[in-house]
Amino acid sequence: MRRSGCEGRKHRRVALAQRLEALLGWNRPSAGGVNVGMMPSLGTQHAGEASVAARPAATSGTFLLGGDLPVHRLGFGAMRLTGKGIWGEPRDHGAAVAVLRRAVELGVNLIDTADSYGPEVSERLIAEALYPYPLGLVIASKAGFERPGPDQWKMNGRPEHLRAACEDSLRRLKLERIDLYQLHRIDPAVPFADQLGTFKRLQEEGKIRYIGLSEVSVADIERARKIVPIVTVQNRYSPTDRQHESVLDYCERERLAFLPWYPLGAGAALRPGSPLAKVAARLQATPAQVALAWLLRRSPVMLPIPGTSRVQHLEENVAAAQLELSPRDFEAIARTS
Ligand SMILES: NC(=O)c1ccc[n+]([C@@H]2O[C@H](COP(=O)([O-])OP(=O)(O)OC[C@H]3O[C@@H](n4cnc5c(N)ncnc54)[C@H](OP(=O)(O)O)[C@@H]3O)[C@@H](O)[C@H]2O)c1
Repeated sequence: MRRSGCEGRKHRRVALAQRLEALLGWNRPSAGGVNVGMMPSLGTQHAGEASVAARPAATSGTFLLGGDLPVHRLGFGAMRLTGKGIWGEPRDHGAAVAVLRRAVELGVNLIDTADSYGPEVSERLIAEALYPYPLGLVIASKAGFERPGPDQWKMNGRPEHLRAACEDSLRRLKLERIDLYQLHRIDPAVPFADQLGTFKRLQEEGKIRYIGLSEVSVADIERARKIVPIVTVQNRYSPTDRQHESVLDYCERERLAFLPWYPLGAGAALRPGSPLAKVAARLQATPAQVALAWLLRRSPVMLPIPGTSRVQHLEENVAAAQLELSPRDFEAIARTS
């Protein structure tokens, strides 16, 4: 039986939800427009990869970092768990811990953080909430910023700073090796080779597994790759902010993961009446879900890391992995940015 476009899409969403429900036997409360499953609480920390793979974030697909480290494409950004101005302790400590645990329950196995978030607070919360870590959880941290105060970010790419930051992050995260370590910014005041050279040595010493860059051009990536293998790039990007389109295309060609920061435009792209909101209303989804579904569709190397301090928003965001945009909706959103 043929259905109208809208009816057909709705039917496909319901059918997908029913298939997942039958497969997993979940209760299904609504989180925004797309449902997510209720999972048991994270009592058993060492959940096997098989059980993790059956969770909603897994619907986003799997990307192999560096060709051999699997993560579900829809991840989580842990910057918003700290206090205001990305400074100090969260207003609600229990809620921050709950968000992290719920993310893992929902199948998120890529968590992005940095020593500078808080500073230190985000990494400490991750260890408190999740250590001993479930099998297959990849924590991606960063170094390269000092934090003199709320909303203040001061680049520091000096080798001694980067090395000390790594050792402190290892201690806070209770890890022997950080799976993905990203240079938060290339510091123009420090020789490029010294910064990447420090990361190379940390890798040789077994303190970090894979290396990523943040806020870089294609030329920066190519220069860095002459010194050390690069597996990820983290640049600002969302459906409504696409200045780094050429970097994304390069990553796709080179099979480097692209982690868009501000994937929800820091919340600003979600306002009522926005292009995302209009498509969302038609699809019975939320603007955040449409933004994330658009990103996941944009490129197979896209690994969105939306940030939130609320379980409700987290559930809504992870459920976006189950939302499929039609080519028409995808193009309509692309044209508005
Ligand atoms: N490499 C870099 O230089 C860099 C820079 C910035 C960020 N990052 C990383 O990228 C991650 C993502 O960026 P981001 O967290 O700054 O921005 P974002 O994901 O674009 O947006 C987060 C903001 O949107 C709100 N939000 C989240 N889900 C929502 C929903 N479903 N409905 C309505 N509002 C929602 C959050 O508020 P609530 O808390 O109220 O949900 C928060 O204020 C960060 O967590 C961090 O890990 C990296």
